[in-house]
Amino acid sequence: MNFPKIKVRESRLERDLIDLGKFGEVGGGGIMRLALSPADLTARAWVKDRMREAGLEVREDGAANIIGRLKSKSDSDHAPCIAFGSHSDAVPNGGKFDGALGICAGLEAVRAIRESEVALPFPLELMILTDEEGSHYAGTFGSRAMLDLLAEGEICKSKGDKQPSLAESLKRMGKDPEKIGEAIRSPSAFRAFLEIHIEQGPVLDSAGIPIGIVQGIVAIERYTIRVQGQAGHAGTTPMRLRDDALVKASRIIMEIHEALRNMEAEVVGTIGRVQVYPGAFNIIPGAVDLFLDLRAMEDSVLAFARKRIQEIVARQSKAKMDPFLAKAGVSLDPGIMKAIEISCRERGILFHYLGSGAGHDAMTFQTRGIPTGMIFIPCKEGKSHCPEEAIRIGDAVMGTQILADSIVRIAFGQEGP
Ligand code: GLV
Ligand code: MN
Ligand code: MN
Repeated sequence: MNFPKIKVRESRLERDLIDLGKFGEVGGGGIMRLALSPADLTARAWVKDRMREAGLEVREDGAANIIGRLKSKSDSDHAPCIAFGSHSDAVPNGGKFDGALGICAGLEAVRAIRESEVALPFPLELMILTDEEGSHYAGTFGSRAMLDLLAEGEICKSKGDKQPSLAESLKRMGKDPEKIGEAIRSPSAFRAFLEIHIEQGPVLDSAGIPIGIVQGIVAIERYTIRVQGQAGHAGTTPMRLRDDALVKASRIIMEIHEALRNMEAEVVGTIGRVQVYPGAFNIIPGAVDLFLDLRAMEDSVLAFARKRIQEIVARQSKAKMDPFLAKAGVSLDPGIMKAIEISCRERGILFHYLGSGAGHDAMTFQTRGIPTGMIFIPCKEGKSHCPEEAIRIGDAVMGTQILADSIVRIAFGQEGP
């Protein structure tokens, strides 16, 4: 096959990245764009407009996923599609490129493919998947709703922190949460799924390599740890008579940190949220909830770390650990990796194979057996989930070009899956 001349344009991509970065912008370069918040809703409206301009047929499913479809020449509604996309939501005070890059690159890839006038044998679908970050509950919500992987009753749960449940947010948008099942699609509806994303770690940036080909995505487990103490008067209770839940929780935090630091295998654990009850200057903490996120590429390593943490928690009096979430790690599809690699070689672009320590909607697609691949580009000093998150536009252009080329390679089966 003569590979079609596909050329993504830097100016359009850059303009979109700047425009999308304005929704929910706060000082210091960060954004507040929690899933389905007013800022996210305006970003989503902007994306739909850009999709229509790019020639896509736009619809929203029962889980609020936005889907823009480009028909193939011989399209029927049931033809399997090559899907790609990412998410518009962000973590609190997060950066402007996590998720947003996948949207803007997807838009530009569609434009470039259309301009090349290549007749693809598969329809394309650009997807903006709802609540990847889990501001409501467990994250990767939209992709799991689409592929029938939601837990029973999950949409009615909230993480607290005054966040609504997904059922509440969907209702506020005029959707019927009872009809969430209408979002479900069969894995056979997909020929492949691709996601381009910033690496969110330091490997590519420190090596000066513009493209990462993702081999696998980390397994993620989350736990709540409840530490019970005895609330009491902060002024009248002698120090030796206290059972301070926060003091005991602090020991648990330190011990988990030390234990994981000292493990030889790659495993990371974070307690990123602490809730103290009742939480007042003049009351000894009576109870504390710790929210633990634990990740490793290998199941055996994760199991070993989990056991160590369980022992640490068990050593403290009146402390208890409960599972909150478990997402299995995945190996991505070798055929899609090859298509990305060939796309890099053909353009003379340096690439590097690596794993993803961050979770992504791509995990959901691969878990359901859909051939899935991810393209990473570097982010400055590996910083992400913070306002300092930054990219070089040249890397974004190369990543977008590789995305467009890989879509076409997968569509024609040339060295693809
Ligand atoms: C998503 O960004 C995650 O890895 O938590
Ligand atoms: Mn993220
Ligand atoms: Mn992301």
